[in-house]
Amino acid sequence: MRNLLRETRLHPHDFILPIFVNDGIQQATPIPSMPGVFNYPESRVGEVVRNVWDHGVQAVLLFGVTAKKDPVGGDTLGEDGLMARMIREAKSAAPELLVISDNCFCEYTDHGHCGVLRDGDVDNDATLENLGRQAVIAAKAGADLVAPSAMMDGQVAAMREELDDEGFPDVGIMSYSTKFASAFYGPFRDAVDSTFKGSRNTYQMDAANRREALDESLTDEEEGADILMVKPAMPYLDVIREIREATELPIAGYQVSGEYAMIKSAALSGALDEKAVALESLTSIKRAGADIVITYFALEAAEWIAAGA
Ligand code: PBG
Repeated sequence: MRNLLRETRLHPHDFILPIFVNDGIQQATPIPSMPGVFNYPESRVGEVVRNVWDHGVQAVLLFGVTAKKDPVGGDTLGEDGLMARMIREAKSAAPELLVISDNCFCEYTDHGHCGVLRDGDVDNDATLENLGRQAVIAAKAGADLVAPSAMMDGQVAAMREELDDEGFPDVGIMSYSTKFASAFYGPFRDAVDSTFKGSRNTYQMDAANRREALDESLTDEEEGADILMVKPAMPYLDVIREIREATELPIAGYQVSGEYAMIKSAALSGALDEKAVALESLTSIKRAGADIVITYFALEAAEWIAAGA
């Protein structure tokens, strides 16, 4: 009876798995604050994405962690840079897999900000120009979707225009449209070895703002986004619902590193049942209105679902 009446179901096709690729290591390296999540060397990308596909998960979000950090994030701006190399590698190992490129600069800049700096703060418009170039490099390398996460005003329009001008009208944009300045990204910053010390409050959103949260996503829709996103997910389920009621676009909820770490560490200490809590959290994100869930639990959840969860 419960199965017949269930309103929200999880399926491996709902998930996007984030993957960290690090050009400065030779072996898979555990991320201490995210038990079960690794930084992978470039040589392992093919194997990792084939394993994703074998789990029935059909989309990955690639993050590059470069040893070559500089003030502009130059390792994303060339066809031989880390961003382009890892996309090509993933696409050639699993051609049917949807390969999504995280488009930002914070993993590639020596100051750790999401764009270029001027007078100690991020220069929005100069960053837009670089984001447009970066999107084209990702598209040329074979990315199916680009995912701008820098939270620069106008980034979706800038990328759409560059992609169209350069002959990539079919490459879609999954925008990190409503991205909060959140303390839940802490473990991610461990993962990408960010030297970042300041705050992103000048470009990411205030956790307290609901109307602005809606406006940010609707602005990205007008600029040409194909998929909207709310990030983090669980502390912002109300925001997912609000955007769901205001748009017909697909919505992704990003269960971020801190959400994952909370569940994992509580499970490891014996306080929570990992499988039950993870599946409940993923279900809540879909129930709130997300079509897609970006989660570090993607492979485990796919296994639990295949086993009849
Ligand atoms: C920025 C980016 C961040 C995350 C994804 N893309 C970090 C930030 O904005 O500070 C966080 C993801 C997570 O915490 O899991 N490129």
